[in-house]
Amino acid sequence: MTRSEQNVIVGLDIGTSKIACVVAEVSPDGRIDVIGIGKHVSRGLKRGVVVNIESTVQAIRLAVEEAELMAGVDIHSVFVGIAGSHIKGQNSNGAVAIKTGEVTEEDVQRSIDVAKACAIPGDQQILHILPQEYIIDKQDGIREPIGMSGVRLESRIHMITAAVSSAQNIIKCCKRCDLDVSDMVLEQVASSEAVLSQDEKDIGVVLIDIGGGTTDMAIFIDGAITHTAVIPIGGDHLTNDLVNCLRTSAREADTLKVKHGSCMVELVPADEQIDVPGVGGRESSPMPRQVMVQYLEARTIELLEYVRSELQRSGYEELVAAGLVITGGTSLLEGMVDLAEQTFDGLPVRRGYPQGVGGLVDVVSSPIYATGVGLLLYGKNNQKTSLAAHNISDEQQGIWQKMRQWFGDTK
Ligand SMILES: Nc1ncnc2c1ncn2[C@@H]1O[C@H](COP(=O)(O)OP(=O)(O)OP(=O)(O)O)[C@@H](O)[C@H]1O
Ligand SMILES: [Mg+2]
Repeated sequence: MTRSEQNVIVGLDIGTSKIACVVAEVSPDGRIDVIGIGKHVSRGLKRGVVVNIESTVQAIRLAVEEAELMAGVDIHSVFVGIAGSHIKGQNSNGAVAIKTGEVTEEDVQRSIDVAKACAIPGDQQILHILPQEYIIDKQDGIREPIGMSGVRLESRIHMITAAVSSAQNIIKCCKRCDLDVSDMVLEQVASSEAVLSQDEKDIGVVLIDIGGGTTDMAIFIDGAITHTAVIPIGGDHLTNDLVNCLRTSAREADTLKVKHGSCMVELVPADEQIDVPGVGGRESSPMPRQVMVQYLEARTIELLEYVRSELQRSGYEELVAAGLVITGGTSLLEGMVDLAEQTFDGLPVRRGYPQGVGGLVDVVSSPIYATGVGLLLYGKNNQKTSLAAHNISDEQQGIWQKMRQWFGDTK
């Protein structure tokens, strides 16, 4: 192998439509260069959750092998994404007395321990604890409390939990491919690292990752995540509508959607025709493109309405001045940005393309790679040293601890 594996970091996005493995080299100055990508069709997931271990393992193997070949490295450990309706997010807070009159790391940890000591259903485990702000005495909005003076420290956190069985299945699939899981990251947390700017997070923004099986949401206010949600509708539902309404195979319907799809009838000229391939040897038949787009528009409006109700339910509707950033493969549908602007009464909307990496940017700058690239950025920001399993630091020990929790092994 030509490259030093010490500086290599790998993101593995196990999606409902595709499995993407993105390999990057981290230079000493912190730059991340993508050096290899592997992608394979995914058939073992339903709405973001592994339902068939065997076919997921096969697809991971093929994606990882392709990425290894391109990058010229052996992959041993990965940052992996997790999604699905089993994910729950909630806000919590915890207050403690500041022991020495000056906030220490231990005080911060204690306040977070109090905040996370709320009831979690037995089949769920904590995936992320995302600090939002600290309040010292009556001063709120503090992001770096260590070293500050006061008598009472309160932490506000967003806590994300996931179903133990779903997390275990992801780890199992990776293990079967001889891959260690460096950390498991909620997919929209990863995507947000790749497509949102710090300004947007500070001003208030909604990230929407519309994939194949699910639409993942994350709301940022004052630089921190305050709400997360998963809506179990994605691009596959658009494809299925076309299968039923146009009477064609799923593969052909997906191709038609990607090639000629749109979610706004008004953008499509009335005289445009498409050819709909028949099934079981039947001949293909012509059809106005507008007819297909009507179905896509109706389903996309339904999806965006779900997103809107979730935003209203969150209570942050008035605080997201930077509007919406839409990413994921389905964001590529023509008219998506315009339709979202209409649905959200003029809130600014843009498509989110992954940024913040160099190297093979031409390939990974598609919204399809938002999670894959985000996993790299998350990995780099949360694990400064190499991913090689040897030489485990305290910080990494924490991660192994977390992985063991999923299997109830507390040794
Ligand atoms: N140009 C395009 N126009 C419309 N839809 C597209 C386009 N390209 C891809 N898609 C759709 O995007 C979806 C796949 O997106 P993506 O790769 O983000 O999903 P995923 O990460 O595998 O799934 P999930 O995140 O839901 O588990 C598919 O439904 C595909 O048909
Ligand atoms: Mg995805």
